Amino acid sequence: MSESLHTVTTLPTARRPGCPFDPPGELVDARRHGPISRYTFPGGVPGWLITGYDLVRSVLADQRFSSRKELMRHPAIDIAGMEIPPAPPGEFLLMDEPRHGRYRKPLVGRFTVRRMRQLTERVEQITADHLDAVEKAGPPADLVTAFAKPIPSIVICELLGVPYEDRGRFQRQIDTFLGGETSDEDLIAAYTATQQYLAELVAAKRANPTDDVLSDLMDTDLTDEELRGMALILLAAGFDTTANMLALGTFALLSHPAQAAAWRADPGLTDRAVEELLRYLSVAKTFMRTALEDVELGGQTIEAGTTVILSYNTANRDPERFSDPHVLDLRRENGGHLAFGHGIHQCLGQQLARVEMRVAFPALLDRFPTLRLAVPAEEVELRPETADIYGVKSLPVTWDV
Ligand code: HEM
Repeated sequence: MSESLHTVTTLPTARRPGCPFDPPGELVDARRHGPISRYTFPGGVPGWLITGYDLVRSVLADQRFSSRKELMRHPAIDIAGMEIPPAPPGEFLLMDEPRHGRYRKPLVGRFTVRRMRQLTERVEQITADHLDAVEKAGPPADLVTAFAKPIPSIVICELLGVPYEDRGRFQRQIDTFLGGETSDEDLIAAYTATQQYLAELVAAKRANPTDDVLSDLMDTDLTDEELRGMALILLAAGFDTTANMLALGTFALLSHPAQAAAWRADPGLTDRAVEELLRYLSVAKTFMRTALEDVELGGQTIEAGTTVILSYNTANRDPERFSDPHVLDLRRENGGHLAFGHGIHQCLGQQLARVEMRVAFPALLDRFPTLRLAVPAEEVELRPETADIYGVKSLPVTWDV
């Protein structure tokens, strides 16, 4: 069995030129060989790469695989022999039960479908204001700064009660530590500044609670340090993911004009179109888990303590799960993509993200019927694969006036 195993040597690995929406070629090739490949982390530590839909989903559902930060190897960092500290209080993305549940449970009721639908009108208003500004300024425009970033950032800041005047500063800090192109020093500086800001925010809410998620958590037994960590996770996850979906999604629509035209012509397509863009783009592309005990997986034994890299983007392009997986088809009916993950860490903000995308994409298409790229597609600057979330750095567009 092990002779036929495929080995992937370098991660992260680049996308093929001219294929900005497809997962890196090496990962697609790996999936073709089978759903599980060998991979060696820097420092020579053995690991695995999982690229097939069924296996990725089964790892996510299996609590023998841990999300704990201190157990995780990283493809870009040689941490052999290094002591990795556990995730700080409140940063529950990188924790297992019961620590994880202590933070996730009080938030679940705040992010339900019903609660998020109630936000629709506000999201419509914020979107319309930004499209007004784009239209007024006239072509060309960068849709990253004028549309994709501000909409989710205002929404998550309002939900959490971040005052309006602090938002610019905040967005810059988050951009710095999630953009994937920052020196270690700048990264640490941005993280420290964000922590400092959140400490002030939590203290302000403690002293003077307002009508927002953070203030609501003040009457639980969560400490200020824990609340700070929770706020950090929500803000970081809430800004960057949806912003990149909106920007890369618009790039994809402008590169597939027949699909954009079909959506413009049929607003009833919106729910399916958003799910298809999530599947096709999979901006949250890779997460990791570490085996807590020996686990049999795909005919291999994953030894206790070994980290597996889960490729969500190739799982969402698995031909055994999705027909013509590399085709963007906004009418596609077979859902069940893994763009929001699966299992106990499945995206807490997915209903919020859906509301934002279901409002923002159709509003943009509707407002600018002749919207198109202002530069050749090859010149659109993409985020490097080292960024946790994939996307475009800027999206120059133009339209007829
Ligand atoms: C299109 C936009 C988004 C995408 C693609 C996305 C994707 C994901 C994925 C894949 C995970 C699972 C990570 C894992 O398996 O370890 C996750 C977790 C999470 N997401 Fe999102 N997300 C999006 C928007 C949001 C928004 C708007 C929020 C804001 C509230 C949010 C908050 C979170 C949180 C708090 C977690 C951690 C959940 C846990 O560990 O229990 N996400 N997201």
